[in-house]
Amino acid sequence: MPGDKSISHRALMLGAIAEGTTTVRGFLASEDCLATQAALEAMGVAIERHEDGRVLIDGVGPNGLRAPREMLDLGNSGTAIRLLMGLLAGQPFDSTLTGDASLRQRPMERVAAPLRQMGAKITTADGGRPPVVIGGGARLRGIDYPLPMASAQVKSALLLAALFASGTTTVRSPGPSRDHTERMLESMGVRLARASDGAGHTVSLAGPATLRGGEVLVPGDFSSAAFFVVAGCLAARDGLVIENVGINPTRTGLLTILREMGADIELRNERFVGAEPVADLRVMQSDLRGIVVRPELVPLAIDEFPILFIAAAAANGTTVVSGAAELRKKETDRIAVMARALHALGIEIEERPDGARIVGGRMRGGTVDSRGDHRIAMSFAVASVRAEAPIEILNTAEVATSFPNFLDVARAAGLTVGAEGRA
Ligand code: S3P
Repeated sequence: MPGDKSISHRALMLGAIAEGTTTVRGFLASEDCLATQAALEAMGVAIERHEDGRVLIDGVGPNGLRAPREMLDLGNSGTAIRLLMGLLAGQPFDSTLTGDASLRQRPMERVAAPLRQMGAKITTADGGRPPVVIGGGARLRGIDYPLPMASAQVKSALLLAALFASGTTTVRSPGPSRDHTERMLESMGVRLARASDGAGHTVSLAGPATLRGGEVLVPGDFSSAAFFVVAGCLAARDGLVIENVGINPTRTGLLTILREMGADIELRNERFVGAEPVADLRVMQSDLRGIVVRPELVPLAIDEFPILFIAAAAANGTTVVSGAAELRKKETDRIAVMARALHALGIEIEERPDGARIVGGRMRGGTVDSRGDHRIAMSFAVASVRAEAPIEILNTAEVATSFPNFLDVARAAGLTVGAEGRA
């Protein structure tokens, strides 16, 4: 599997402000991560990327970033823009962050509002959207902030700002969210206090703090493997082994959900790659059945709902998803776009404000529009293993934001897929 997108972004950002050189192995050179690289280079960070996935970052230290000459364009990447908001809130210079048409529709106040409480000078455009303008020279101070939703992007942005703040920043979350930032900060010498109990999940960081550069090993991306996990459940009669998959428990909600649907998935060769747990996944074809997805699993599978909807469409019986209104705030409104596309293939799906009810059944071929959402495009490529005729998927160029070699891996797994035109 290609390198983890979330971890690759974080390796670049933390390596950039660390003291000394950071060597990243297994980096994901996808469009989203390259947008982060370009933004850091525009602020004076020297980053050398090698063909073999090795990236050398010449850390500039906590006070070494330079004012960018132009607006920073983060393309399609919510992680890039939101984490950089945190990183830039405490810098001595002004900056402006923007992105493509999809990113310019996405909410940024969830990050801007708590950063303002820390003392940052930030404005967002109409509706709380990009461009985001950050005023330099703000003196940040730690805050105690209860997140309204479990969001790793907001949590991470606040932890990055906390590195430049005086006093302790505490972020409280109503549920778990991916903890790659915490693991990487700790591996670079930052002390965190972390607690999880029935009341929620809390992390505290005493600022200001300095990072120590070193080696970051990036495991394969669970969210990329997810497409092949479902493909295997639907069609791997002889089994499919997916190697090098990050299995951080804050990411693997899909495995729990699929097993509750009757999937046969085995973890093999469990090990650590740097600070992250990794395994090879062996998936066998199995008859899936519809279930009620437990809402507490939603944050642990937040990026996997497009492919889970495909599994649900191929299952016997009805699957109900609730507590997932956040899906409407991703690269597209994933509930609406998935519902329209599944409906076009003859699947009965009822859209709900915070989820959907999907009745498994026969899937026709036809044309679906992924609306430029990488995960939706890849999900329908997987759906083709069950459809009665070919599926044509429109607007798929954004697959390169997270999984540039998807077609090669898909063909190696036995899918019959090709691309036409500029996808
Ligand atoms: C991410 C966090 C999640 C996820 C996104 C990547 C991250 O977003 O959907 O693809 O790298 O921190 P939220 O924090 O908005 O849930």
